[in-house]
Amino acid sequence: MKKEDAISRKEFLMKLGLSGTALMAVLTACSSEDSTVVPSTSGSFSINLSESAYAALASVGGYVKIDNVIIARISSGNTSSDYAAIARLCPHEKKDKMIYEKSSGEFRCTDHNWYFKTSGKGDGNASTTGFTVSISGTTLTIS
Ligand code: FES
Repeated sequence: MKKEDAISRKEFLMKLGLSGTALMAVLTACSSEDSTVVPSTSGSFSINLSESAYAALASVGGYVKIDNVIIARISSGNTSSDYAAIARLCPHEKKDKMIYEKSSGEFRCTDHNWYFKTSGKGDGNASTTGFTVSISGTTLTIS
């Protein structure tokens, strides 16, 4: 490959359509030898709930993982209180095994079954970061 054909990893990822928080998450994750990623406690992003990638959020109990966040549909209305978002990596051993468990109404890390309320407060164990959710039309914003 000629030198002028080479592009940086950042340029390549931007050509794939990644930008903002998503781009930073990939660059941060790729720059580490260790697969452990510390949960983000800052930043904000929005998603369009009408996009198929977020179809799981149409049903109560559904959840998606985006960047360092897990977002769940916790009730059937269409207000900010019908969704919850916390850091997706467990504060115990930083595993990416967080799910939303509809039956308990809480997030659960499946590795050692630590539970987290929708605020991120630990249910008898360490707490994690809870994010603010707001909604306008089909735009859900996590901050
Ligand atoms: S890594 Fe999540 S409970 Fe242990």
